[in-house]
Amino acid sequence: MLKIANRVSSLKSSSIMEISAKAAQLKVQGHEVISLAAGEPDFNTPEAIQAAATVAMKEGITKYSPAPGFQVLREAVAKMVTHENGFPVEPEEVLITSGAKHGLYLALQCLVDPGEAVLIPTPAWVSYRPMIELAGASVIPLPLYEEDGYRPNVDRWKGMAIPPNAKGMIINSPNNPTGVVYSREELVKLTGWALQRNLWIISDEIYEKILYDNLTHTSVAALGPEAKKSTITISGFSKSYAMTGWRLGWSIAEKSFVSKMAALQSQSNSHVTSFVQWAALTACNLDPTIGAAMVSEFDNRRKYCMERLDKLSNYLTYTRPTGAFYIFINLSKWLVPHKMSDLDFCKELLDREYVGVVPGSSFGKENSIRISYATSIDNLKKAFDRIEAYLKRG
Ligand SMILES: Cc1ncc(COP(=O)(O)O)c(C=O)c1O
Repeated sequence: MLKIANRVSSLKSSSIMEISAKAAQLKVQGHEVISLAAGEPDFNTPEAIQAAATVAMKEGITKYSPAPGFQVLREAVAKMVTHENGFPVEPEEVLITSGAKHGLYLALQCLVDPGEAVLIPTPAWVSYRPMIELAGASVIPLPLYEEDGYRPNVDRWKGMAIPPNAKGMIINSPNNPTGVVYSREELVKLTGWALQRNLWIISDEIYEKILYDNLTHTSVAALGPEAKKSTITISGFSKSYAMTGWRLGWSIAEKSFVSKMAALQSQSNSHVTSFVQWAALTACNLDPTIGAAMVSEFDNRRKYCMERLDKLSNYLTYTRPTGAFYIFINLSKWLVPHKMSDLDFCKELLDREYVGVVPGSSFGKENSIRISYATSIDNLKKAFDRIEAYLKRG
C-alpha cells in the first residue's frame, strides 16, 4: 500500500465539491435534485469569450506560455485593475493563475512558514484553512457576529491575545459565505488593525463585480501605499464572467513576490492554459452590459430568496446579503430544539428532499447553512417549497 505523506494525511477534499458531487450522483439516479451548494454562476460563458478561445486554438495558441502568463494579458489586467480598482498596477506585479484558488495557494506557499499563524475573520470560505495548514501553519479565527451583520468590528477583538507567530490576515469582501460587502470605512479600520500588527494581508476580491443596492467595491490595496505594499490582491474571471471551469484568475503583489509565485507556478502547473489566457484578453475588454445583465438576474434571485426567508422567520434568521450570490442562514431556532447539527440537517435535506445546501460548520460557524442563489428562480422556488415543507414538518 502507498504510504501517504504526513503533509496531506489529514487533508480532505472541499466539502462543497463533495456535496455538489453527491447531488450530481442523486440526479443520475433519476431524482429531481436542486443544488444550492455550488458557488458558480449557472450562465454560460459570454459568447465573445468562447469565440476568442476557438480562434486562439485555430491560430496555434496551443503551446507553452511564459509561467507568469502572456505579457499582453498581464498588461491588460494591470490596465483594467488600475482603471477599475483605483490603485496603480504594473504588468510585472500581475501573475495569471489557474483561478483565484491557485493564486491563493501559491501566495500562501510563498508567504507562510511552518509554525506561523494566519488570522481569518470567520465564518470564512472553506479552502483557506486547508491551504494554510498545507503550508504547515495554523489558523486563528477572528469571530464575526451575526448581531454585527457579520461585518468586521475590530473592537470585538480588543481582548484577544494575538500571538507573535501571527503573520498575516485574509480579508474577503464581498464575502463568501455571508454575502456581506465591507464598506471603505470598515476596510480602513480592518487594514489599519492588521498593519499596526505588522501583518501581511491577502485580499480575496473574487466577487468584486457582483454587488447590489448600488454598492461599489473597495480594494484593500487602494487604501494607500502602505496598504498596497503589504497586500496580495487575489481575483479572477470565474464568478464575474461565468468562467468557473476555465480556471483563470490573477494575483497582484510587489514584483519580487510575484516572481517567486511565478517560480512556484513554473515548477508545478507551469502556467494557465495558453488559449484560455488568450480568451481572457476578450474578457478584460467585455462589454460591461453583459456582466451587468448577470448581476441584475442574480439580484432578482436574491430578492426572491429574501422574500421566502422572511416568511420563515419562526425557524431562522439571516443576514441581508449585498454582494456575491450567497445567503448565510442561522438555523439555531430550528436545529437546537431538534438536537440536530447543521451537517446532519444538510445530509437529511439532500437525502429526503433532494435539496443541496452547505453546512455553516464548513465555514467555521455551526447551526447555520449557506445557500447559493446562482440558479434559476424556478429552481429556487422548488427548493424553498421543499425546505419550507421540511422545516414545518418538524
Ligand atoms: C471566496 C472565494 N475565493 C476564491 C474562490 C476560488 O475562485 P476560482 O474559481 O477563481 O478559483 C472562491 C470560489 O468559490 C471563493 O468563494
